[in-house]
Order: sequence, then structure tokens, then C-alpha cells
Amino acid sequence: MKGIIFTEFIELVETTFGYSIAAALLDGCDLPSGGAYTAVGTYDHEEVLTLVGQLQKLTGTPAADLLEAYGQFLFPKLAAQMESMSLKFDGAIDLLCSLENIIHKEVIKLYPDAELPSFKIQNINSQEIVMEYRSCRPFAHLAKGLISGCGEYYQQTLSVSMKHLDTKSEFFTLISVRQS
Ligand code: HEM
Repeated sequence: MKGIIFTEFIELVETTFGYSIAAALLDGCDLPSGGAYTAVGTYDHEEVLTLVGQLQKLTGTPAADLLEAYGQFLFPKLAAQMESMSLKFDGAIDLLCSLENIIHKEVIKLYPDAELPSFKIQNINSQEIVMEYRSCRPFAHLAKGLISGCGEYYQQTLSVSMKHLDTKSEFFTLISVRQS
């Protein structure tokens, strides 16, 4: 997983829970990288899950809520990358429509080793989009948070609901996003 995902996670912990929790978090995890992340490096996604699990122990906040809060925090950082790629969208639903075929496609061109999920559109109209999230990594709650962050970015009110349909071989979640 790209280093930006790790560096921003540590940033979220420092801003939300403070430096002492961030230090206790890294101390409490026996991470292969030792927790010394750089934005340009690549790390095992299991390290994010270890960090989230340990943060749940330290704060009592459920892992799913932590991943969602992280997605909300992360979206503006990814949006800055998107702007530097000269990608512009009319709003959240327009962006989500272009997530797989434009945004993540550009990400792969830039970082050929990026590990991205697939987002197949099942249904769409001007107010609602239903997408199938599929990945070998369990980050559907991160996706939900990113979508909420996307709504905030465009100052739109979105309601996001999820239905997990995980199979033996992959994480599979139906995500419905409605704009009100
Ligand atoms: C609401 C919009 C978005 C959603 C729902 C979304 C969803 C996700 C998810 C869930 C992951 C984690 C990997 C996985 O689940 O298998 C991911 C990774 C990533 N996304 Fe997106 N994304 C969005 C927008 C963007 C934007 C705007 C950019 C930047 C141009 C971006 C760049 C990346 C990068 C760099 C990674 C890390 C890949 C890796 O670690 O190897 N995403 N995205």
C-alpha cells in the first residue's frame, strides 16, 4: 500500500488523539517497517490493519468507525493529488462515476505498484449511485469515509449505506450513495 495512506493515518492520530497516543500506538505494534513511513514508499496493507486494531484498543473506538473517520480525513489530501492531475468533477456523484475509469486509472499510471480496489457501477441517476466495492483488502469502511469526505469537499449532503456480501476469495460490499 502506498506510503501516503500510512503517513496520513499517523497524522490523523496525532491531530485527533494527540502525540502521546500516536507514540503509544507505534510502540505497541510490532511492525515490519518499524513505523518509519515515507509518502513515496510501499508497505504491506496488513500494517494499516495492525495500527487500526491497536488504536481501537487504546481509544475504545471501533475499528470500522476509525477507518471511516480516516477516510473523511484522507479525502482532501487525495483531492489535492487529483487537482494536480488536472482532474475536475461537478460534484460527488460525478466523481464517483469516474472513480474506477478515470481517477484510479490515473493513479495506476503514476504508481504502477498501487493496490486499488474495483468499483463497478450497478445503478446510477443524478441523485443516487450504487457501486460494488471489490478488493482483496478489507477497506470498505475506508471507502465509506472517503465518500463522506468527498461530500464535504463538494459541500453536498450525502447518505451512504453499505451491505457486505463478502465471499471466500474477496471483500465485496454494495455501497449506495444518495444526494439530498
Ligand atoms: C470518494 C472517492 C474515492 C474512493 C471511494 C476511493 C477508494 C479507495 C480505497 C477503498 C482504497 C484502499 C484500497 C482498497 O480498498 O483495496 C483506495 C486507495 C487509493 N486511492 Fe482511492 N478512492 C477515492 C478517491 C481517490 C482520489 C481522488 C485519489 C487521488 C487521485 C485516490 C488515490 C488512491 C491511492 C493513491 C490509493 C492507495 C493505493 C495503494 O495503497 O497502493 N483515490 N481508494
